[in-house]
Amino acid sequence: MAADLLRVRRRRAVARMKTVLYRARAYDTPDDSAFPLRRRPRAGRLGRRIDHGAGSFASVRAGHPDDTVIDLRAGILLPGLVDTHVHFPQVRVIGALGMPLLEWLDRCALPEEQRLASPDYAATIASEFVASLIAAGTTTSLVFGSHFAPAVDALFTEAARFGLRLTSGLVVSDRMLPEPLLTTPEAAYADAVKLASRWHGTGRARYAVTPRFSLSASDPVLAACAAVMAEVDGAFFTSHVNENKAEVTSVAGQFPDRSDYCNTYDHHGLLGARSVLAHNVHPLASELEVLAHRRTAIAHCPSSNAALGSGLFPLREHPAAGVPVALGSDVGAGTGFSLFKEGLQAYFMQRLLGDEGFALTPAHLLHLSTQAGASALGLGDVIGTFDVGKEFDAICLRPPVGTALDIGLRHAGSPDEALGKVFALASDADVADVWIGGVQIASGGFVRALRR
Ligand code: GUN
Ligand code: ZN
Repeated sequence: MAADLLRVRRRRAVARMKTVLYRARAYDTPDDSAFPLRRRPRAGRLGRRIDHGAGSFASVRAGHPDDTVIDLRAGILLPGLVDTHVHFPQVRVIGALGMPLLEWLDRCALPEEQRLASPDYAATIASEFVASLIAAGTTTSLVFGSHFAPAVDALFTEAARFGLRLTSGLVVSDRMLPEPLLTTPEAAYADAVKLASRWHGTGRARYAVTPRFSLSASDPVLAACAAVMAEVDGAFFTSHVNENKAEVTSVAGQFPDRSDYCNTYDHHGLLGARSVLAHNVHPLASELEVLAHRRTAIAHCPSSNAALGSGLFPLREHPAAGVPVALGSDVGAGTGFSLFKEGLQAYFMQRLLGDEGFALTPAHLLHLSTQAGASALGLGDVIGTFDVGKEFDAICLRPPVGTALDIGLRHAGSPDEALGKVFALASDADVADVWIGGVQIASGGFVRALRR
């Protein structure tokens, strides 16, 4: 019923949507192999989808004299950003610094996550979380949900109000966490299937089966997760892996019969092309081989890795082994929602690795924040670049006049130079406009819900 209503509303919104010409400095990274930066022509035409990508403004205009023109030349147009690992219940715990993972979970994250047992509190957090995604220009995300089903419901409901592309699910665990966060294999299965039946495929929502990490999920719970994957066609799978050395050692102790951390999931058939594992800071070569074989992507979360002292991510080894990588903010261990900051932090950490690091360019950073995330989430043909035929998910950066980013962009000598300035200097304050599927949901600091 809710699904039908959403479909009808979206169809009406699309029918009302006029085709427009946009005139902009637009950058994207369409080529997966080498990540070259493409400077788009100065005009494009779009409704919900991009249907004209080539030519000067004059030539596109000549073919479409009646279209409305949107002039965005004061800013920079980029594809909507894609966050492949961000925790919904942790928006209020960002900034607790100075602890390693397991202590941070005990002292900061888990006490807050228990508060989402209250549906009212969960609804407030859902609205803060979704507002934070939009403010950062994140139009698509794979979101670690809550341990409480009504809270996950509140998240999907709030995301649907703005048409966000959001994949999420119930977080499940049956040990090592405070008692209110624990479930049983039977309840883990039943609650997930119920939530998925309501949300998977409704509008832009999709369901992600989400054991917190195998440290807190026994074999029977992981088996229940596999049963949900079998039941829900096209469901995603997400969890954590190889984040912190103490965690890796504890997981080995919990699973004496498994060869390594990845194998705790792989044993249950949970790794595949619709699986995304966060971190993987300390992988074995044999794990990289399995991840590549399964086509499972890694969400690289560099600011979280630095904040928790988890380690320096071996980025080079991932593409070398054939493992796809995208970016995640990992809020709230990560220090904010901005994927510009994550990109810059990824760059810093690879620099610190010296010769062993991956020499990231501004174009790499844009690719990791857009098309790589879209591909990891199975949306590589739908969003991620401004290719003709894709849906128009975009952000326009318009830095306040006189800021270092404004000055830098006005004087940038090339697209690569401009993009370097974006990743060095841009923050939420510079994200002026946000479109999803051709519908503008944010403009100049105001956000606009598709419905109340
Ligand atoms: N591992 C298990 N839970 C979490 C979490 O909430 N954040 C991070 N960074 N790692 C985790
Ligand atoms: Zn995480």
